[in-house]
Amino acid sequence: IDPSLDLEEEVARLKKERNAILLAHYYQDSDIQDVADVIGDSLQLSQAAAKTDADVICFAGVHFMAETAKILNPDKIVVLPDLDAGCSLADGCPPDKFAAWKAQYPDSVVVSYINCSAEVKALSDYIVTSSNAEKIVDHIPADKTILFAPDRNLGAYLEKKLGRNMVLWQGSCVVHETFSERKLIALKTRHPEARVLAHPECEPTILKMADYIGSTTGILKHAIAAPQKEFIVATEAGILHQMQKAAPEKTFIPAPPVANCACNECPFMKRNTLEKVYLALRDLQPRLELPAHLLSAARTPIDRMLALS
Ligand code: 13P
Ligand code: SF4
Repeated sequence: IDPSLDLEEEVARLKKERNAILLAHYYQDSDIQDVADVIGDSLQLSQAAAKTDADVICFAGVHFMAETAKILNPDKIVVLPDLDAGCSLADGCPPDKFAAWKAQYPDSVVVSYINCSAEVKALSDYIVTSSNAEKIVDHIPADKTILFAPDRNLGAYLEKKLGRNMVLWQGSCVVHETFSERKLIALKTRHPEARVLAHPECEPTILKMADYIGSTTGILKHAIAAPQKEFIVATEAGILHQMQKAAPEKTFIPAPPVANCACNECPFMKRNTLEKVYLALRDLQPRLELPAHLLSAARTPIDRMLALS
C-alpha cells in the first residue's frame, strides 16, 4: 500500500463508507485501539457485536472473538484483519477430543470459556468470559457435575472462589502462564506499595499474590479507581495503553515473564496491524464464514451467557 496514506484517516473514511464498526480488544496495538469504535473485554465486545446496526464488523482481536461476532450476526459481514490470529486456549481444545472428553460425563453441564472454537461452543451448554464466569457457574444447580474448558487456571480460580469442584480441561494461555513468581516477588520487594492486578488466566502462584483479579476491563477500572499510585499488571501488556491514558499520573509496571522476552505480548493478537485493519475495511476480506448448522448450534450457549450477564 501507498506509504503516504494516512491510515488513521483512511480507516475513518472506510468505516463511514462501509457503515462498519471497528471493535478492538485491549491487547491490540495502541494505534488500532486509537481508531476503534469500541474497546473492551471479551464480554463487552460480544455485547457490542450483538447490538450493532452496522453492516460490517471489523474485529481487531483474535479468531474466536470474530467468530462469536459472526455467530451473533449471521447476516453481517465480519472481517478479521488477520485470519491466523488464533489463541493457544482455543487451539489447545480440538473439537473431536473435547467431544470424547464430554462423552465420559453424560449428565454433566458443560461450561466453556469464550476462548474456544465455534465447534466447541456448539457442544457447550454455557459460554462464559472472565467477567461473568462466577455468576454463571454459580447459577448452575449444586447437584450437577460441571465440565469446564479450556482454561485450567480460570477453572481452578472459580473452584476456589465458589467452593465447588469442576472437571477441568487442562488448557492454558501462552501469555498468562509466562509470568514468573520469583521475579514478581523481587519486583514487589522493590515496590512494596504497588498493587498487583492479575487476569484469572494466570497460574495459581501468581493469583495468590494478586490484590485484584479480574477481566481486562475489571483490571483497567480497578487501576483507575484505586487510590494507590503504583500497579504491577499481570496480563497482556497492551492493556497498559488505556491505563496510561486514563491515569497518566500513576505508574503501571508490566509483570515480568520467566524469560527475558516479549512473552507478555500475545503473538496472536499482535498479528493484526493498523495496515491490515485498513486492508480488511477496504477489501472486506478476510471474512469469517461458518456453516449454518454451526452458527445456530453455537448461538444457544452464547445467548444464555448474554441473558445472564
Ligand atoms: P478478557 O475477556 O478479560 O478481555 O480476556 C480476553 C483474553 O483473551 C485474555 O487473555
Ligand atoms: Fe488467547 Fe492468551 Fe492471546 Fe488471550 S492472551 S488471545 S488467551 S493466547
